[in-house]
Formats: sequence, structure tokens, C-alpha cells
Amino acid sequence: MKRKLALLLVAGMTMASLAGCGGNEAAPADAAPAEEEAPAEEEAPAEEEAPAEEEAPAEDAATDEEAAAPAADGELIRVGFAQVGHESDWRAANTQNYQDTFSEANGYELSFVDADNDNAVQLEAVRTFIQQEMDYICIAPIETAGWDTVLQEAQDAGIPVLIVDRSVDADASLYETQIGCDMVAEGEMAGNWLAEYLNGEAANILVIEGSVGASATLGRTEGFNNIAGQHSEWTILDSQSGDFTQAGGQEVMESFIKSYSDFNVVVCQNDNEAYGAMDAMDAAGITYGVDGDVIIISFDATHDGLQYTLDGKINCNVECNPLQAEFAAEVIQKLQAGEAIDAQTVVIDEAFVAPGIESQYATTMTQEVLDGRAY
Ligand code: AHR
Repeated sequence: MKRKLALLLVAGMTMASLAGCGGNEAAPADAAPAEEEAPAEEEAPAEEEAPAEEEAPAEDAATDEEAAAPAADGELIRVGFAQVGHESDWRAANTQNYQDTFSEANGYELSFVDADNDNAVQLEAVRTFIQQEMDYICIAPIETAGWDTVLQEAQDAGIPVLIVDRSVDADASLYETQIGCDMVAEGEMAGNWLAEYLNGEAANILVIEGSVGASATLGRTEGFNNIAGQHSEWTILDSQSGDFTQAGGQEVMESFIKSYSDFNVVVCQNDNEAYGAMDAMDAAGITYGVDGDVIIISFDATHDGLQYTLDGKINCNVECNPLQAEFAAEVIQKLQAGEAIDAQTVVIDEAFVAPGIESQYATTMTQEVLDGRAY
């Protein structure tokens, strides 16, 4: 029942659990309970915690049965979460979702580290979790690269690792599962919508990418480029990182405005970058949105991003759903029970377009859709 409530809160969203790569045709995942508790206080970066008293984790975390049940009945399950940072509204919603889901009331002790988009800090956090003998470690990897050694260390220590939100390029045998959105599909959704909207008209496109090396950036870029490659009437004039921040989006857009005068599409790889880009265009007297000269595509579809979409300022906003913690909790509960888990859980997204736009790829925004958006 709680699962149904949690799913209803995510308006229009469906989720799928796949044994392989993403696809909308897959069966819905059985999500773990998501209690409606008051948010837990954010913990300080992992410090000297008392040594774990739970029985030792299984030696080989590579198989489901052996990784199961490190915590005895009645004890809290200790989970370390190495989060990317606090760069965006999406990230804040994702962090809150983990803190709500992995609460003491739900049977967890969550150690949370905000890595502030710093790879070294994130690696150190994971090593601290290993030293602290966490029962499970969740990693939202800042970048795809550089994970083999520390994942091997976690596996050697018998601690199951869940890769969440983004993905890594390490061998999949080094972690239990990956949970997140299909970033390539998101990029393709944006491209397909643009092709439908332009209907053969030329496009001069500027792209404000996310953080360098992040799977969210790599996937959205690849997906959009897959579609752009099918349109000889499109030119990608430039593509620069705005670091998934509003300040980054504004800075990159200001620089684009100095260099280019003939663009008619700006693709921002998250909502915060779009806010910054809109500020830069406002300052330069450039109009955008459904009544303007420049088409804006954004990603995330957070509440504020969808407000701008409803207002016609963002033409198309592709969702990336941050409410993913219940899937991580489901995996942990299954491992606790010695049950098999899926190698990957793909959280399915949809796209939204401004009023007045009809699309086979996206839902037209209404106040009702916005009111249903919890983050
Ligand atoms: O990995 C998800 C991305 O990271 C979101 O699109 C962005 O807002 C966040 O910072």
C-alpha cells in the first residue's frame, strides 16, 4: 500500500526493473516501502563512528545469496551514501528522498556524505564507509571513470555496493546493481521532440552540458547527438559544460551570446542551467520559449522547471526522476532476505512541453501536472 502511494505521488511516472538495459516494455519493479516520515537530519560527512557490531558481511559480495543479511533482526541496517553534491534542485530532491527512505523508523542508519562534486572527496567517503564496515554502500558517482580500485576494496571487505543515479564504467561484477534513469533515452527524447517541433526547419543549436565525465552528461549528449545525426538541417554550433549549476549555465550562455548571433535552440542538460541561461538571455534582450526567438530544451522536470514549462518559457522539459531511493531499499531488503536482485533498475522518464504544443513524445503541461509534482 505504501508503495502504491509513493508511485502515485510521482505523477505520470512509471518505473521498470530490467535484467539488462533500459526499455519501456519491461515489467514494473516491486518497490520497497517508502514511509512518509519527517525527513532525517542530514548527517555530517562520515566521521569516526563506532565499529559495526553486526555480524561480518558475506565474503563474496558478487553473488546475491552470499551478500545477504549482514544485520541481525531488530538491528538497524547501516548504509553509507556517497552523494554527488548539492549542485541542483534535482540533487536536493534526490538527497531528501534517500534521507526519508533510509530513516531509523524504516530500519536504517544512514551515513550521508555530500562530495561537493569532488571525485577525491567521494572516493575518500567510500573508503571511510569500508573502514566503518557499513552493511551496504550506495554511490551516486560524480564521474563514470576511476572506480575499479575502490569497488574492488569494497568487494574484498564483503560490502555490497549499489551504484545509484549515474553509472560507472567499472566491471559490473564489482557491484551489486545499478539504479537510475536512462540518460541516453532522455537525450533521444529531447532530440525526437525537437525534430517533430521543427518539422524540417533548420536549427542552429547551442548545448550547455552537465558536469564533465558524468554519465548524465555523456548519456544525454549521446542521445541528442543520435537524433541530430539524422538531421542535416541541424548544426550544433557549440557545446560547453555548465556543471549542472545555475551559475554555470549563466556563465556558459553569456559566453555563447558573445560568440554566436544566429542560434535558435539552446539545450540545457538540467533545469538549473536553464535558469542561468534564461537570465543571460534576459540580460541580452534575447527572447525565448514559445513566444520567443530561441527554443529552450531542459532536463530534470523539477517543480520549478515545469513551472517555466507551463509558463511557456521552456519549450520542452525531459524528466529525470530523483525519487529513486525506494528502489535501493528494495534491493537491500532482497539482499537481506537472500533473494535474487536485478542487475539494473531503470527509472522511466517522460517529457513535458509548454501549453500550445502537441507532441507524440511529450505531455502538454497543465496546472494539474504541476500540482502533482512533489519535487
Ligand atoms: O545525475 C542526474 C543529474 O545530476 C541531474 O540531471 C542534475 O540536475 C544533477 O545534478
